[in-house]
Amino acid sequence: MRDTYLEEFYSFLRFPSVSTDDNYSKKLNECADWLVKKLKAVGLETQLVPTAGHPVVWARNKHQPGRRTVLIYGHYDVQPPDPLELWDSPPFEPVLKNGYVFARGATDNKGQILSHILGIQETIEQNGDLPVNVDLVIEGEEEIGSANLGKFLSQNRDALKCNVVLVSDTGMIAPRTPTMSYGLRGVAALELKVTGAKIDLHSGIFGGGVANPATALAQLLATLHDRDGRIAVPGFYDQVAPLQDWEREAWKKLPVDVDAEILKETGAPSLFGEKGFNTMERIWARPTAEINGIGGGYQGQGTKTVIPSHAMAKLTFRLVPNQKADEIIALVRKHLEKSLPAGVTIEMTGGHNGPWYLTDPHSEFGKAAQRALKKAFKTEVALIREGGSIPIVSDFRSILGVETLLLGLALPDCRAHSPNENFPLENLDSGIRMNQAVLQELAA
Ligand code: BES
Ligand code: MN
Repeated sequence: MRDTYLEEFYSFLRFPSVSTDDNYSKKLNECADWLVKKLKAVGLETQLVPTAGHPVVWARNKHQPGRRTVLIYGHYDVQPPDPLELWDSPPFEPVLKNGYVFARGATDNKGQILSHILGIQETIEQNGDLPVNVDLVIEGEEEIGSANLGKFLSQNRDALKCNVVLVSDTGMIAPRTPTMSYGLRGVAALELKVTGAKIDLHSGIFGGGVANPATALAQLLATLHDRDGRIAVPGFYDQVAPLQDWEREAWKKLPVDVDAEILKETGAPSLFGEKGFNTMERIWARPTAEINGIGGGYQGQGTKTVIPSHAMAKLTFRLVPNQKADEIIALVRKHLEKSLPAGVTIEMTGGHNGPWYLTDPHSEFGKAAQRALKKAFKTEVALIREGGSIPIVSDFRSILGVETLLLGLALPDCRAHSPNENFPLENLDSGIRMNQAVLQELAA
C-alpha cells in the first residue's frame, strides 16, 4: 500500500468531526471540505450539499447509460471521544501501533469509507474510469440518527436513481474473514426526568417525609426487565419476528467463538442476556432495552446529605423485525406512567429513531457481493446480522427503492464508540481490493 495513503488517513482522522456536539460544527465543515477536495482530486464530480444540519458530500463519476449504478454510502461524523483519560493517545492525533491506526473514527467510519475512495482512485488511475456508475454519499449525521439525509434522498431521488447501495459501516466477524451483513437492528430513544421537590432538600429535615426521585427512578427502571433478562413492558415482543431456521443453523457454523471473544473484549465478569437465546441470537435478532445514562443528586467528593429534586435517565431500545419504533415508544411510555412510584412526577422526551433492516443475502446482488468478497479475501464469506443500526438504510429501500449490501471492515476489537478506537492498515488495503472486486462484479 502506498505511503501517501497513511498520510491521507491521518489527515481525515485529525478533524474532530463530532456530530452530537454543536461546538464542533466548524470541524465537521472542515472535514467535509477535505473530502470534497480529495474526491475532486480522484476525478469525481463533487459537491457539498448543505442540509438543515451538517452537509452531505456527494460525488459521482460520469454516468453512462446502460451501466449499473451503485450508490456507496458512508459517514464522516464520529462519536464523542469521551472519556478522554482512557485513551492511550489523544483521539484526534492518529498514531500507528503494530499495524493499527488509533484515533476516534478510525473504523467508524473513516477508515472504511476511505478504503472505498482509494479503491475508486486506483481503478480510475488504472483504467480511466470505473466499471459502473457510482454515486458516493458521505454524510455528517449518521451518529445522531441521519435526521436530514432522508430529505436529501427525496429531493435528489431522480439523480440518485441506482441499482443497489453499498455500505461498509458494519463488522467483520474475524480478521481476514469477509463478512456480509443482511440485517441491522433499529433504535428508538427516550429520555426520562423524574421530579420530586422543587429544590434539593436536607435529607435529615425532609427525609422520610417526601419521595426521593432517585429511588423512584431506580424502581421504575427496574421494571423494564424481569430476572431472565426479558423486557417486561407489556406488548414489547408482540411484533418480533422469530429467527429463521436457516439462520440459527448457519450462525452455529460460523468460525468464531463469539462468547469467548465478547468476554475477552469487554472484560465483563460473565455474559448475560435474554434466557432461551445464545449470544449471537440475542445481539443480532432480539430486541433490547438499555439505560445509556443515569443521573441525579450529588456526584461530587465525599457525602452530601441531600434529597435530589430530580433524577434522569437516557434510554434506547434496539429493535428487530417487525417492531415499529413509534409503537414501541408508546408502549414504553404507557408502562412507565403506570409503574411510576408515588410522590414524584415524570417527564418523557422522545429522541431519534432508526428502523431495522433485513434483506435477502441470496438475492442477485447479494450473490454477486459474495462472489466479489470471496475473490478479494480468498476465503468463505460469513453471513450475519448486526446488532448495530444505520438508520438511513431503510430509507434507501423506501425512498430510492433499492436494497443495500452491507460489507463491513470493522473488526470485533475495533473499539468503535469506545476509547482507543482503531483500524488495521491491513483492512484499509483489503477494503481497497474489496471495493474494486465488488464494483467489478456488480458491473457484470
Ligand atoms: N457503524 C455503526 C453501526 C454498526 C455498529 C453496525 C456495529 C454494525 C455493527 C454506526 O455508525 C452507529 O454506531 N450507529 C448508531 C446509530 C444511532 C446513533 C442512531 C448506533 O448503532 O448506535
Ligand atoms: Mn458508523
